[in-house]
Amino acid sequence: MIIDTHAHLNYADRYGDEARLFQSLADAGIGKVIDVGWDYASSAYAAEQAERCPFLYFAAGFHPSNLESYSESECGRLAELLKAPKGVAVGEIGLDYHYEGTDEAAQKRAFVRQLELAYALKLPAIIHSRDAAADTLQILKDNRAKLSYGAVMHCFSGSPETAKEYLKLGLYISFAGPVTFKNARRLDEVAKIVPSDRILAETDSPYLAPEPFRGTRNTPANVIKIYEKLAALRGEDQKDLEDNICKNAHTLFKKLDNTGDRNGEI
Ligand code: NI
Repeated sequence: MIIDTHAHLNYADRYGDEARLFQSLADAGIGKVIDVGWDYASSAYAAEQAERCPFLYFAAGFHPSNLESYSESECGRLAELLKAPKGVAVGEIGLDYHYEGTDEAAQKRAFVRQLELAYALKLPAIIHSRDAAADTLQILKDNRAKLSYGAVMHCFSGSPETAKEYLKLGLYISFAGPVTFKNARRLDEVAKIVPSDRILAETDSPYLAPEPFRGTRNTPANVIKIYEKLAALRGEDQKDLEDNICKNAHTLFKKLDNTGDRNGEI
């Protein structure tokens, strides 16, 4: 089964008619998609979409660049949402120092708090890190006990050395569109060294469309291009890699086995 472990179909205004979108993904052979929130409203919307679409699951969390409405009570509401059968992870959470004037301390607090939430809910975490590798790694090391239910570095774009540090902590590494871009030599190296039981793939739709669709609005149907490139870099059969990543996704996101499996296959 082909799986996209990270997309934002909850950008309602970017995809037009929802029923048509879901049908197009089914037609493209996409087996399961995790629809990821970045604040409470987008997480709640992803949860609603997962109720409407049999092969859609959701993650709920506050992205580090979307903390305007973050509070302890909002964390409580996230926890309520994630009790749903299709709530598979806390995410996306993490650190993003890309923009000028970011409140790094506030980001760190929200990140740690949501790692605690994932632990309390016995769910894995989906982690975003941009221009913040050293602090992300430090927080994960300091909170290692909170990673018992696993975590993935989503849309990984760092160096092989950084990837090795995350792997040492038991994390999964997920590849998105950038691995297909030309001049992605450093990322090519990472794709070659991630062990078979720790690799995942995603689109991060609507962002970061892979080659040859770069610059267009991305959709989970394009995840095929990520599999194609990863298989080529790793010298693996593409179908085997798809099945292996599907297995990894079900190992990390245990609630993917809950209701909504379109045809029961893995
Ligand atoms: Ni994302």
